[in-house]
Amino acid sequence: MCGIVGYVGPKSTLEVLLGGLKRLEYRGYDSAGVSVISGTGLETRKKAGKLDNLVNEITNHPLSEAHIGIGHTRWATHGAPTDGNAHPHLGGPTAKLSLIHNGIIENFSELKAELLAAGTKFASETDSEVAAHLVAAEFEKTGDLPTAFVNVVKRLHGAFTILVIHEDQPDVVLAARRNAPLVIGVGDGENFLGSDVAAFVEHTKRAISVGQDEIVILRANEIEIRTFEGAPVAPVEFEVSWDASAASKGGWSSFMAKEIADQPQAVADTLMGRLESDGSVRLSEIDGLSTEDIKNIDRIVMVACGTAAYACDVAKYAIEKFARIPVQVELSHEFRYRDPIITKNTLIVAVSQSGETMDTLMATRYAKEQGAKVLAICNTQGATLARESDAVIYTHAGPEVAVASTKALVAQITAGYLLALFLASERLAAGCDATDEATLRKLGQELLKMPARVTNVLEGLNEVRALGKEMANAKSVLFLGRNVGFPVAMEGALKLKELAYIHAEGFAAGELKHGPIALIEEGQPVIVIVPSPRDHDSLHPKVISNIQEIRARGAKVIAIAEAGDKEVANFAEHVIYVPQCENIFSSILTVIPLQVFALELSGAKGLDVDQPRNLAKSVTVE
Ligand code: G6P
Repeated sequence: MCGIVGYVGPKSTLEVLLGGLKRLEYRGYDSAGVSVISGTGLETRKKAGKLDNLVNEITNHPLSEAHIGIGHTRWATHGAPTDGNAHPHLGGPTAKLSLIHNGIIENFSELKAELLAAGTKFASETDSEVAAHLVAAEFEKTGDLPTAFVNVVKRLHGAFTILVIHEDQPDVVLAARRNAPLVIGVGDGENFLGSDVAAFVEHTKRAISVGQDEIVILRANEIEIRTFEGAPVAPVEFEVSWDASAASKGGWSSFMAKEIADQPQAVADTLMGRLESDGSVRLSEIDGLSTEDIKNIDRIVMVACGTAAYACDVAKYAIEKFARIPVQVELSHEFRYRDPIITKNTLIVAVSQSGETMDTLMATRYAKEQGAKVLAICNTQGATLARESDAVIYTHAGPEVAVASTKALVAQITAGYLLALFLASERLAAGCDATDEATLRKLGQELLKMPARVTNVLEGLNEVRALGKEMANAKSVLFLGRNVGFPVAMEGALKLKELAYIHAEGFAAGELKHGPIALIEEGQPVIVIVPSPRDHDSLHPKVISNIQEIRARGAKVIAIAEAGDKEVANFAEHVIYVPQCENIFSSILTVIPLQVFALELSGAKGLDVDQPRNLAKSVTVE
């Protein structure tokens, strides 16, 4: 899940490459490198660590003016994050070829053995360098760079986006894609390549997604796409709706802080055009599924990883409650490899911010092979998941750069609620059991109020900020919740692990007495998501009992509760209030204090909130 950028055109190549890498750094930040072809030939700089290290290296050893080049930001798979293992890798005895790679070449040992036998010297421990030497050798043989390139990529197994430039062909960048993302940016007298549109959106909003097993031959005035088998591919252009400024910090201390603040907009934009003022939901994106198809759905399986999986857990409560369709939430990697039961009446809902998470792609591909229909909930236009699904509900959160997901999550949850209301209405129309239309409309109207409520939450977080700072030395924090509060508790714990490297666990509050209560000792901080006391079937009294059980054993309780819940204050050291809403929609509000808590605690520990250690935003390997 490295970041890849390529450029050919009149601009300063170095500026384009470094700008692109900056925006792609969320994909990996173990090391970075660039290669350009100047009047004097191929020049490469690469450095372990964050992009700034590469920038310093270039300041100390400047590159010549160039109009073609490639750049890479790495998340290590084969080989430690060292200068030597950083990309680009040079190929051939004269090192005239430069190659960057995102993905894993699964048959690299066999290919490396072949090269070693032929006397090739390796400069790194990576799988990628193998491809560089193979292409260089093949070019020596064939004399035609695109032919050499395709001959080699056809031999590679696994996942890759590969970009290549060669000193003897100084006007062309070659790219190949299999199971890893690649998008072309179309300019005027210049063209771009990127792992996603963020790489070039400040220069052009015209983009083309590259399909599976296709190569791109990119010149300043020409874009040629072919399949690995040589058939020409007609490019299909799309317009990027993201604004370049949306992917910059805009005065915030971190991308995460900005993205937390973006959440009212993310929710509003995801609702826009889909929810009428009378509360009715229109999801024209899933017109491909007929009312008959919806009637026939006998089970929904939601697949996702990480934070996106918690959005699925929330959606499960809403879909089952409103549409009365059984929902199973599965971690994509577990689902794919256990021979799951899938029929043509199973609807797969795959949720992914990036749309490039390999585990989720593999799960959906498998489900499609078994005859299921796949609906994607995705934040990235033109992403692989979106392209491979039968229908897509785009979340309109805008580019999310911080590795820890925030606004993409609330947008995914919002999309899940929309889907629940839509399916309920369709099922009702088809004569199935579901929540009645009047109630659905009322819920839809409630959902319309959520962006304003998110703004309210954001305005009242001083106490959480202070708590985050105060608790910088905490060794462990537990999170409890019930119903939609349960996935929120899980997400709160994940955020703390990701950002502050603290042991944190989320539990279903009802499960506490079945084991986790043994963890409670004097002073143990526990954050409890308290449901609204207003519903007639509210779980409020039960959660209050759970709080009493842990307090009796010394826990220090921080409650996230609904405004007006006076009772909870008697049982907690701190109460963070969020506005009243339908309890089922409360996850959008209660998750926000937990994001801010983790952000502050991480900041107080002096950690990098946008780029936590060992993580990458988009995991494009299995
Ligand atoms: C990685 C990230 C998580 C993210 C997960 C799923 O693990 O570190 O923050 O939630 O991938 O990403 P997706 O793009 O599929 O939503």
